[in-house]
Amino acid sequence: MPFNNILDSLGNTSLIHINKINQFLNTNVLVKLEKENPGGSIKDRAATFIIEQAEKSGLLQPGGTIIESSSGNFAISLAMIGAIKGYRVMVLVDPKTTKTNIALMKAYGAEVIVVTEKDDTGSYHKTRIAKANQLARENAKSYRPDQCFNVLSSVAHYNSTAKEIYKQTQGKIDGVVCAVSTGGQIGGIAEYFKRYSPRCNIACVDAYGSAVFGGPSHAYKIPGVGLGWTPRNIRDVNKIDYVYRVSDQAAYTASRILCRNEGILVGVSSGAVLLAALKLSLQLKNKHPIIALLGDSGERYLDTLFDDEWLIKNNIDRDTSMVQLCSLLEKIDTPQQSPNIESNYNDTLIDLLNVPSTTVTRFEQIDESLLESA
Ligand SMILES: Cc1ncc(COP(=O)(O)O)c(C=O)c1O
Repeated sequence: MPFNNILDSLGNTSLIHINKINQFLNTNVLVKLEKENPGGSIKDRAATFIIEQAEKSGLLQPGGTIIESSSGNFAISLAMIGAIKGYRVMVLVDPKTTKTNIALMKAYGAEVIVVTEKDDTGSYHKTRIAKANQLARENAKSYRPDQCFNVLSSVAHYNSTAKEIYKQTQGKIDGVVCAVSTGGQIGGIAEYFKRYSPRCNIACVDAYGSAVFGGPSHAYKIPGVGLGWTPRNIRDVNKIDYVYRVSDQAAYTASRILCRNEGILVGVSSGAVLLAALKLSLQLKNKHPIIALLGDSGERYLDTLFDDEWLIKNNIDRDTSMVQLCSLLEKIDTPQQSPNIESNYNDTLIDLLNVPSTTVTRFEQIDESLLESA
């Protein structure tokens, strides 16, 4: 049956064996290819859900404008949705956003604004958000999906990503690993699995320099990972079993290793996720697979991750051998583990950044009926 429109092809992404890597390491990891979503990344799931909710509640009206701060994928998803549904889309990106991602947003017709001013953590998150909120206040017909503060993002992953993994595997898995930034993925997945399959290990991977789970904040290179505080999308940090950290260099190299050895072309955060999932598998010696959620496509990073000159300039090892993979895994620090995972909620930001009153900032505001059953 043909799909009614491109958005209806969302989800049901493939689970793939990584035979050579698993055989070499004696691990049991399956990867889930989120680049198969219609806009090319996992962010399509949250963007679609949030926009549909805004339409239902009347916050987004026909002919309205969607204004968002995003380093790439969420903005591309919104740009695609805007094209299908006829909304104007304005996105605020930063200098870390790749040329390719900006070109993709523009291809769908979005207007792109590059914010160059850094915030107090050395990142651009806060300055981008403040600017997006200002633009929204100036534009009467606008809606802010507000991915960093809107807990509907984790509801989207609860209903979509987590439920889909459970259905595809009949719940016979020993873990799920994803990357963390706005916390939508890990928050929704942790809530779902702790409710329906509590023995499943839930892990996420963060960047050194991100402050999602405490620690010193400083600049880092991995795109799409990390934040300067704990997002409320993570309702309870201790529903996460393990928090890994991966260096910039290791994330880039691991993604290239996956491409060269398994023919799977994915982005930088996927390299970090792969390393964390393999490390967890080495530790658990799991019987049932661990699912590694690979968020987007390597085609989005041809001018960095797959550009030799860029790699040399940025001191990233281009050795894609299995020996190199072992060495990367050996260097991974011991993860933070529940119940000792640090949190760093910073609700003063809601006022400080002028978060719109339309943003659902707390789970208490959500009707339980919005959460689908298993
Ligand atoms: C490719 C990719 N992976 C992972 C993440 C992190 O997901 P979340 O924001 O749901 O925590 C992002 C966020 O931008 C992303 O683009």
